[in-house]
Amino acid sequence: MPQWSHALSVRNARLDEQHIVLIEMSKELIALVKRAPPTDAPIREALREFADYARRHDELEEGLLAANGCPTLDEHRAIHRLAEAELERWVRAAASESIDRKALVNCFEVWMAHHLTETDMPVKAYMHD
Ligand SMILES: [Fe+2]
Ligand SMILES: [Fe+2]
Repeated sequence: MPQWSHALSVRNARLDEQHIVLIEMSKELIALVKRAPPTDAPIREALREFADYARRHDELEEGLLAANGCPTLDEHRAIHRLAEAELERWVRAAASESIDRKALVNCFEVWMAHHLTETDMPVKAYMHD
C-alpha cells in the first residue's frame, strides 16, 4: 500500500494535506470493501465522500496550475476529468446494482499508485501558492 512521504511533497502544504487525506480515504475504502459489508450502502457513502473531496482537490490544483502558467494544464485537466468520470460511474453503480468489489479495490490501488507520482509530481513546480 503506498504511503505518503516527503518524497511525494508538491511543496504546497494545502495540496500535500489533501493528497494525504485522499490516500487515507482510499485505504479506508479498500479496508471497508475487504470487510465485506452485506450491502453496498456503506461503500456507496465512502465513494461519494471520496468523489466530492477529489473534485474539490482537482479544482484547487487546476487553479494553481493555471495561475502559475503550467504548460501541460490541458492534459492535467483531461486526466482529472477522466478520473472524476470513473468515480461517478462507481457511485452510480453502487446506487443501482451490486458492484464488482474486486474491480473497485483494483481501481483505487491503481489510482493511489499513479495519481501522485505520474500526474502531479512532474508539474509540482507549478503548484505553489
Ligand atoms: Fe492532479
Ligand atoms: Fe493531486
